[in-house]
Amino acid sequence: MTNLKRILTGHRPTGPRHIGHLYGTLVNWTAMQHSYDCFFLVADLHVLTTDFSDPKRISKNTLEMVADWLAAGIDPERASLVLQSAIPEHVQLSMLFSMLVTVARLERVPTYKDQVTELNLNPSLGLLSYPVLQAADILLYKSDTVPVGEDQLPHLELTREITRRFNKLYGHTFPEPEALLSDNPRIPGIDNRTMHTSRGNAIFLKDSPEETNRKVMKMYTDPTRLRATDPGHVEGNPVFDYLDLFENDKAGLKEMKALYRAGKIGDVAVKQHLAQVMNASLAPLRERRQQYAAHPEQIIDILMAGTERARPVAQETLSEVMDKMGLSTLKVLDEEKNPEGVLN
Ligand code: TRP
Repeated sequence: MTNLKRILTGHRPTGPRHIGHLYGTLVNWTAMQHSYDCFFLVADLHVLTTDFSDPKRISKNTLEMVADWLAAGIDPERASLVLQSAIPEHVQLSMLFSMLVTVARLERVPTYKDQVTELNLNPSLGLLSYPVLQAADILLYKSDTVPVGEDQLPHLELTREITRRFNKLYGHTFPEPEALLSDNPRIPGIDNRTMHTSRGNAIFLKDSPEETNRKVMKMYTDPTRLRATDPGHVEGNPVFDYLDLFENDKAGLKEMKALYRAGKIGDVAVKQHLAQVMNASLAPLRERRQQYAAHPEQIIDILMAGTERARPVAQETLSEVMDKMGLSTLKVLDEEKNPEGVLN
């Protein structure tokens, strides 16, 4: 797989994955593992930037997340699943890169600014340097392509700046990585706001069919429609956003939209149909997930194997960077024909 282009991307292990992750990223990742040398990173160090008070949670969330990745079709024979904190080179490279970025530049990163105002917190150094660590994640593997959501573009931009700065100062070392955006539309939560793991508005891959039914029946629809005979709106109605993704019978869906617009089908009937289509579509994935959930030792083995595949790559890049930045004193005599000349 060595002459394939390389991809590094990842998620923070914040818990089980939901259908937004499935369509936003996992479907893409599974497609890419056939044509790229893929490294999928469990960014557990990044979790600590905002969430360091519950140490037990990270391992559990990691296993949940990786079980979902595997259930969604990530093939550990093709792609390497990498545990960030198990490879110290991520932290080391991040420290070296932090010399090449100003504090003022990091304070202008929009995700940082938002978090500081939103959470009204007193930001740690770790939070400020979040995107520097992310740049290290990407460049440690000399990844050319980084599939991410739109929210990550500011981090990619900073990674590209660090790349240019490094290459200019020390000679060409890293490819300038390109973001690759998914062309699937973002799916809203069941309340029509952004789907979020901890907002109570997500449908998780691991939800049972009954749980899915229950959530679908509670979904926000068209607030202007009081009776099933009122003409309904399909646009901006998350029930139809979901059907667009999950319904394979496109002709049938078109008909259902026409009936809805004409006030000839009720919300309950549409939702029942959606729940049925979703459960059918997610069934094979959920079955795989249950198998992994019953065998967490397999998940650990997979993570360990992926991490060991990543390690030599990370070590080689770090050593190259240290040499180029002048941190190679112990090697300074190796090629020196006239050792005394080093000091005189
Ligand atoms: N910041 C990313 C997110 O929250 C996670 C991440 C960490 C990442 N390191 C990365 C994504 C490297 C892409 C490449 O989703």
